[in-house]
Amino acid sequence: MEFKIIKKDIVTSTNDVLKKDAEKYESGTVLCAKEQTHGKGRSGRSFYSPPTGLYFSVLLKGEQINPSVLTVLAAVAVMKGIRETYGIKTQVKWVNDIFYDGRKVCGILTEGAFKKNKLRHAIVGIGINISTEIFPDEIKNIAGSLGENMNKNDELLIKILDNFSYEIQNFSDGKFLEFYKKNCLTLGRKVRLISADNSPVDGVAIDIGNNAELIVKTDSGEIKKIFYGEAQFI
Ligand code: BTN
Repeated sequence: MEFKIIKKDIVTSTNDVLKKDAEKYESGTVLCAKEQTHGKGRSGRSFYSPPTGLYFSVLLKGEQINPSVLTVLAAVAVMKGIRETYGIKTQVKWVNDIFYDGRKVCGILTEGAFKKNKLRHAIVGIGINISTEIFPDEIKNIAGSLGENMNKNDELLIKILDNFSYEIQNFSDGKFLEFYKKNCLTLGRKVRLISADNSPVDGVAIDIGNNAELIVKTDSGEIKKIFYGEAQFI
């Protein structure tokens, strides 16, 4: 897959800017910014984006892979890209949070535009805290960074994009899921599932399915498949 990288110093949100002009950009366009004033996270949250991070969004058109699975492929590409660039091993908390040393260092937000139930385009946004030291109060107990003197942002971006392209092309062999599961912090843990439309459910995360869904054995012994939402550790 060919990527065309557009670099900006500061934008509101790379996802929003790309989304606004999605019709005019080709598939494979990547918008990368040094800083975001309105970085977005999942569930309407904001994503703190000072100049000590790497923030980019990838536009994909005509993609047959659903947005949740694209998020998982992106998470695999981020973990591999960080390892290849810095020799650091990160892990993923289902579904889209990358952790290093017990702290969240990266978030992924995939937004899809649909027409008649068909995916028109998807925007996969990735934000990595490279060397941010001070975080706002709301996230200071959970957020972290890769480390000091990390100045290979260009290399990291290319490595992640190369891996992302590889994972998309080889998606059907299912190896991405093996890698994801092997590096997943959530599996085997006791979790509380929070979703917008249901009351919280507690159980143990036992597997991840082919559509990126978390499979949980609830405290009452039921097997539940969770496609959206969050799994908090309890
Ligand atoms: C999350 O942690 O809930 C997801 C965070 C996603 C942040 C990235 S930074 C680049 C892109 N632009 C945004 O506004 N959000 C994503």
